[in-house]
Amino acid sequence: MEVKLCATGDVEEASMIQISLPGRLPVAVYRVEGEFFVTDDTCTHGKASLADEGELEGHCVTCSWHDGKFDIRTGAALCLPCNTPIRTYPAIVRDDVISIELE
Ligand code: FES
Repeated sequence: MEVKLCATGDVEEASMIQISLPGRLPVAVYRVEGEFFVTDDTCTHGKASLADEGELEGHCVTCSWHDGKFDIRTGAALCLPCNTPIRTYPAIVRDDVISIELE
């Protein structure tokens, strides 16, 4: 099932926003060099929101709680204390709307 998240204009370049979804944890939508990426928003180490509390530098998001880092393209955990990757979703961009496919 395709789920609409936001308009492309809602996400500024080099920034991220949190999107709440009914019945599941929120996702984070990122815009880097004009490209969009989507991951789960909740850090895999604790319960921090990456979009609301983290910092984005290039394709790396840093969790503000304990400085864990993830690559938003692959979800790879880049440094301790995070060792569990974060889930990523291919961003579907159509008519200036960003969506993801959810089962
Ligand atoms: Fe994100 Fe600990 S909660 S690094």
